Amino acid sequence: MTEIADIAKLLKEAQAELKAVADKAAQEQFKSRWLGRKGAFSLLLRGVKDLPPEKRKEFGAKANQARENLQAAFEKIGAAKDDEAAAPEFDYTLPGRAPQLGKRHVLTQVTNEIVRIFYGMGFEVADGPEIELDYYNFSALNFPPDHPARDMQDTFFLDGDYVLRTHTSPVQVRVFEKRRPPVRILAPGRSYRNEAINARSYCMFHQVEGFYADTDVSFADLKGVLIAFAEQFFGSEAKLRFRPSFFPFTEPSTEVDVSCLLCGGTGCRLCKDEGWLEILGAGMIDPEVFRAVEYDPERISGFAFGMGIERLAMMKYRIDDIRLFFENDLRFLAQF
Ligand code: PHE
Repeated sequence: MTEIADIAKLLKEAQAELKAVADKAAQEQFKSRWLGRKGAFSLLLRGVKDLPPEKRKEFGAKANQARENLQAAFEKIGAAKDDEAAAPEFDYTLPGRAPQLGKRHVLTQVTNEIVRIFYGMGFEVADGPEIELDYYNFSALNFPPDHPARDMQDTFFLDGDYVLRTHTSPVQVRVFEKRRPPVRILAPGRSYRNEAINARSYCMFHQVEGFYADTDVSFADLKGVLIAFAEQFFGSEAKLRFRPSFFPFTEPSTEVDVSCLLCGGTGCRLCKDEGWLEILGAGMIDPEVFRAVEYDPERISGFAFGMGIERLAMMKYRIDDIRLFFENDLRFLAQF
């Protein structure tokens, strides 16, 4: 073995043998035969000193290179074999890994639940645009031109006559324009207000508008519907409190609170230590609204309410910060 061509031949032979190495024992054998201190390549290199001086350098370099290549190839399969040996046997009795399923956002679930309950009372669903004309958001709802609710503080004004709707009440007007009584509608959707963000308020939130216009609709009907809803939605432990209030588009008007289910009425961050949380505004539809849509207020009466979906969800699930709904943290969302 003194010719340069012999080195390549030797390497080929070793590589062929390496392919056949199948277990630990064969591996050991291969190592000592080819790569060990007394292995074929060591012997080859030891012979370099006996070569004629002009041959030594090239022969030595080539032999070294070949040995290194073989060493690398050997290490590769060695690592693979070791991994296999270290891996525990496959345990067929282990339960499989369940894929994580997506699901509806908690606000969507709550909205669907609200819709289901009112559907049982004869309401159908409608919707309207979130980018709304000033006319529908304010004027047709009997807001005088200088009413403070149009103020920058509450409303996100857009170009022209458009605003981001500040409530779902404009859907009342849009539906009344198209339909004649009796109408019984539920309109869930997003609303926007330029408010300071804290645990109870966010600049975007969801409301469900409900309204009913017909002959002989009374405030007692409104109360009956809201109480029936609260019982089904919260269960019988929840109490409702009707407070007199004001909205330009209802007369008389009321704001309704639910007894705080988070603290049981003793006071907490959610109810601001009051034991009650406001969940909706409501009232008898103002004759001015009916006039704007050419309903005869002498003949037609109606009620309307607008509920905050986040507030309802917070009470039902004892959530103490509205911001959680919009952070999309899976640790929160996966709980519902
Ligand atoms: N739109 C009112 C609000 O957002 C709630 C409301 C709806 C009040 C319907 C009365 C009737 O505050």
